[in-house]
Amino acid sequence: MAERPYIVGNWKMNGTRAMLSQARAIDRAAQNLMKVEVALAPPYTLIHPVHREAEQIGVGAQDCHAGNEGAHTGDISAGMVADAGAKFVILGHSERRQDHGESNALVSVKGAAALEAGMRVILCVGESEETRDAGKAENFVTRQLKASIPESLDNPEESLTVAYEPIWAIGTGRTPTVDDIGAMHRAIRATLVERFGEEGGAQVRILYGGSVNPDNARELLAADEVGGALVGGASLTAESFLGIVIAAAELQDQPA
Ligand code: 13P
Repeated sequence: MAERPYIVGNWKMNGTRAMLSQARAIDRAAQNLMKVEVALAPPYTLIHPVHREAEQIGVGAQDCHAGNEGAHTGDISAGMVADAGAKFVILGHSERRQDHGESNALVSVKGAAALEAGMRVILCVGESEETRDAGKAENFVTRQLKASIPESLDNPEESLTVAYEPIWAIGTGRTPTVDDIGAMHRAIRATLVERFGEEGGAQVRILYGGSVNPDNARELLAADEVGGALVGGASLTAESFLGIVIAAAELQDQPA
């Protein structure tokens, strides 16, 4: 695993102010688990409230618009989420790609907007079950990655995290094998090195996402080139999310 694993909770369209107590509990526990970088991406409505609770954890958004401001009813710009306290934005999640028809090109310009607003980007990639069954997963994911990285991005170690989330593993309780995760993460690493050179490409953390829970976290986080996890369902309670954070901390304690 990477030097300091990164465990990020994506609350998706879940959470009202009643859930702030979970964020607070996660933040307080993270203060004693400093070997792990912990972050939450709540819905827009909770970014500022979670930011106010957070003494240790990072707070981010789940999306942003590509533009700065203007006549886009219902949309939220990168500058707005940064103003609310977000330090990063998750972009290109398969649920955005599917529900909102987001293309690689759009994800790339949204990333540029997020960088412009001073935030980091967690860029999601992942194949469908059909693509995996056809034996085209690595080819698909590496092409998706190349086309989704913002053109202006030139300091990947500071501003980019990649999350590999196979669509068929999201919310299903199914996960790829540790070998398959390792193979995909190595292919992603090679793509990053190709784009940013040895040094920059080597420093980007590559998270795994898709049905991570406290029971399987240890095994999944130990897979080759896995630098952390992007967690959906299991991030909604402090108890289960912290189970994953603790698994990451324990792996850090193990001799390599
Ligand atoms: P689950 O952990 O619920 O499978 O969701 C993963 C995910 O999509 C995180 O972004």
